[in-house]
Amino acid sequence: MSLTLEVVPLTLDRVRKSAHPVFPVRVLDGMSSALVVFAAGFYGAQDAIHVADAGLVGTCVDVDADKLLLMEAMYPEGWEFRVADAFAFARTWRHAHRRWDIVTVDSPTNLFDRCAADVEVWCDLAWRTVVLGTGVETAVEVPEGWRVSDVVQRSDYRGGVFWTVLERC
Ligand SMILES: C[S@@+](CC[C@H](N)C(=O)[O-])C[C@H]1O[C@@H](n2cnc3c(N)ncnc32)[C@H](O)[C@@H]1O
Repeated sequence: MSLTLEVVPLTLDRVRKSAHPVFPVRVLDGMSSALVVFAAGFYGAQDAIHVADAGLVGTCVDVDADKLLLMEAMYPEGWEFRVADAFAFARTWRHAHRRWDIVTVDSPTNLFDRCAADVEVWCDLAWRTVVLGTGVETAVEVPEGWRVSDVVQRSDYRGGVFWTVLERC
């Protein structure tokens, strides 16, 4: 018996078809740049694809070099892809005063608390908005000058996974 495997190329259109629909796309209106940390797990189906479709230029950060390489081949010209620990990357660029219009933080669930503890770092990197992955028990201490403008449920996993949207007031 012989087995034939069909290799279907990964394209942005395929990522788009698997895109998770609840990302709060309204916050992308009028923005031009995005920092997408923890970007590569599903090639951006949860966040980066929405950022690309809204016409922003993204900087994607992840520790998974192979997936980032595949993303680099698919996403529009001008996007940056950086293999790095997201926390170290954030501290470096915070120190260098680099900012993006929006920062999205889609960490694995076991890093929700650590990401929430670093909320000030993500906010310092964003001119306008931070979209933070959170769980039911994640405590987010909102930095001065910021407010939580929306909390969107993404799934029922472990009692609920959410996008918590923080915006500069
Ligand atoms: C939930 S997935 C992200 C999904 C992604 N936002 C998407 O839409 O495809 C979590 C990602 O975090 C990455 N990751 C885990 N620890 C990391 C770290 N310390 N720094 C950067 N990336 C990390 C994993 O490689 C994985 O790609």
